[in-house]
Amino acid sequence: MKVLVTGGAGYIGSHAVRALKKAGDEVVILDNLVYGHKELAQGEPLVVGDLQDDALLRKIFAEHRFDAVMHFAAYAYVGESVENPAKYYRNNVAATLSLLDAMREAKVNLFVFSSTCATYGEPKEIPIPETHPQQPINPYGASKLMVERILQDYDRAYGLKYVSLRYFNAAGADEAGDIGEDHNPETHLIPLTLDAALGRRSHITIYGTDYDTPDGTCVRDYIHVSDLAQAHVLGLNYLANGGKSDVFNLGNGNGFSVREVIETAKKVTGKNIPVAEGARRAGDPARLIGSAEKAKAILGWKPKFAQLETIVSTAWKWHQRRFAPKPQTA
Ligand SMILES: NC(=O)c1ccc[n+]([C@@H]2O[C@H](COP(=O)([O-])OP(=O)(O)OC[C@H]3O[C@@H](n4cnc5c(N)ncnc54)[C@H](O)[C@@H]3O)[C@@H](O)[C@H]2O)c1
Repeated sequence: MKVLVTGGAGYIGSHAVRALKKAGDEVVILDNLVYGHKELAQGEPLVVGDLQDDALLRKIFAEHRFDAVMHFAAYAYVGESVENPAKYYRNNVAATLSLLDAMREAKVNLFVFSSTCATYGEPKEIPIPETHPQQPINPYGASKLMVERILQDYDRAYGLKYVSLRYFNAAGADEAGDIGEDHNPETHLIPLTLDAALGRRSHITIYGTDYDTPDGTCVRDYIHVSDLAQAHVLGLNYLANGGKSDVFNLGNGNGFSVREVIETAKKVTGKNIPVAEGARRAGDPARLIGSAEKAKAILGWKPKFAQLETIVSTAWKWHQRRFAPKPQTA
């Protein structure tokens, strides 16, 4: 298949590009490089441009005969979405609408969408199933939920076939260590902890140590980015084989606490990682764990890298290569 990958020069998109190539698919990446990195495109055809540019979208769809689109491009900073919701609704909703309309014009009918567990809001049951109520508590989650709704309507009216994949926390890096996470600013626990291990930051802060969890710190569901990428390929094949539009959680099913992540990082890196304990942050639930049983049953998804140690050690391999200070040459 020939697949347009929006946001393919970003963290998760670059791993999906690798998984698609391994599966024998052809890719074209569209990324504005606002948060992406040219080298993460891995030499695949990269169109540097913005989804909000309708003329560019029309040109890309006229130049290529795509079978499908994987849509990763979005902004994903929860705090920023609260401060500046316009930016999020414009990029995550309005630009997605432009993409869907360009697909419609070009008669491209298969769509894999990066949704998020942030569409659920406060969890009412753990592990969270796909049938859990969706009541996002920030504009980022709301923007993704709006797209989920648009997709339902586009299926009904225009026959678009889609899978919405609601990810929990993507983490880790490809085993080769040559692609991985490089967000700026970085907000995710594992790369921040590895930054502290490398001495790029003085310490890691734990926000809240008095939660109702075994060690008092928040518990989150970390899913290895290569497992996540593989689920996209399976989702696409499912659609190509006539599967009906559907939504799937993608998570580990197993939660790990902030302290467990830091302890694992100490073990993997062999470094001392200074820790500071801070107050709880507003809007952080004690536990967020997803059930991915549906993706396993229907897509045949089998995570290969579910162990926290594997997740952290692949992230560490990449992190050192990307961020460790280079030795001075004379
Ligand atoms: N990282 C996670 O844990 C996580 C969890 C749930 C959902 N998601 C979703 O997964 C997707 C990918 O996340 P990521 O962590 O890889 O982020 P990322 O920032 O690394 O990747 C997103 C890419 O999209 C590009 N982009 C953004 N807006 C664009 C536009 N208008 N036109 C062209 N390119 C544009 C950015 O330059 C970047 O390369 C996002 O949609 C995000 O909301 C991520």
